[in-house]
Parts: sequence; structure tokens; C-alpha cells
Amino acid sequence: MESRMIRGISAAEARVIRSMVLRPGQAAEQLVYPGDDEPPSFHGGAFHEDQLVGIASVYPEAHPAYDWPAAWRLRGMATLPEVRGMGYGKGLIQVCLAHIAAHGGQNLWCNGRVNAAGFYTLLGFAAYGDEFITESGPHYVFRRQV
Ligand SMILES: CC(C)(COP(=O)(O)OP(=O)(O)OC[C@H]1O[C@@H](n2cnc3c(N)ncnc32)[C@H](O)[C@@H]1OP(=O)(O)O)[C@@H](O)C(=O)NCCC(=O)NCCS
Repeated sequence: MESRMIRGISAAEARVIRSMVLRPGQAAEQLVYPGDDEPPSFHGGAFHEDQLVGIASVYPEAHPAYDWPAAWRLRGMATLPEVRGMGYGKGLIQVCLAHIAAHGGQNLWCNGRVNAAGFYTLLGFAAYGDEFITESGPHYVFRRQV
């Protein structure tokens, strides 16, 4: 029987999937984001048959350009290719939103890849501003209320 679970994980666990999906070729220890190990930051992990298959991390962080109150930032949103479309990404966003709400957060934003725009808009995010390019390709700022 297929088993599914979404729960909090450590930053070190999250870095394994960051390395596999988001920055292939970089060692897990190079994939440290500021605030990774500082509460109330939170790392969600999706487990499929006891294997970690998806991650999302959230941090209390204002956007440098937009004045969104009680803002948190989403980083490292990724699921393994073999489980995409199975609802793990959505479940990870939901567990992050619950964590943020429990800590009084009101807004969640991210620099999201343009090819994930459909995912973010389905989950209630809207794109802001112009497309911009980073080392991992074209992005928009996405944001939703918590
Ligand atoms: C984007 C990503 C996290 C989505 O994860 P996932 O596990 O496939 O997401 P879910 O299965 O929960 O999808 C939720 C909904 O979004 C849709 N969706 C998922 N990815 C999509 C995409 N790239 N474009 C359009 N719709 C998408 C799903 O079809 C699903 O729709 P439904 O609820 O109507 O069935 C995953 O594809 C991924 O890791 N991609 C590579 C890394 C990446 O781009 N991360 C984002 C960096 S900003």
C-alpha cells in the first residue's frame, strides 16, 4: 500500500533534495540558505513510501522591494521527478502555510521559476513585477496571503 506523509525535517535533510533537483552537481553542504538553522524557519519534507521525495523551506523575511506585512519567504521548493503531479508540492505549501500562520505570518513570497508559474498560480500565488533572470533561469516574484 502506498504511504504518504508530510512533516517537518532538518535543513540537512532538505539539502539532499536541493542538491538533486535545484542545483545538480553542487554538494549538499554547499546548499545552505541564510537562516536555515534558525527558528522559526521551517523545512517541510514529503515522504513517499518512507523516502524523502519533496521539500520546501520558509523563513521570516521581508521582500526587498514590496512592503508586504509579516512576510515570509519560500525557498527550495522541489519534488523528485518521479512523484510530480501527485500532490506533494501542494501538500508542502500547505504545511508551510500552517507553520507561518501559527507564527503570525501574513504573506508568503518567493522568487519562482517561470516554468513553475502554473503551480504557484494554482496554489493561490500571483506574479508581481517583471520577469528577471538568475543563474537558474527566468523568474517572477510570486506572493500570496497566508
Ligand atoms: C514545481 C514543483 C515543485 C511542483 O511539484 P509537484 O509535486 O508536481 O506539485 P503537485 O503535484 O502538488 O501539483 C499541484 C498542482 O499544480 C500543478 N502543477 C505542478 N507543476 C506545475 C507546473 N510546472 N506548471 C503547471 N502546473 C503545475 C499540478 O498539475 C497540480 O494540479 P492539480 O491540483 O490541478 O492536479 C515540481 O515540479 C518541481 O520540483 N519542479 C522542479 C523544480 C522547480 O522548478 N521548483 C520551483 C522552483 S521556484
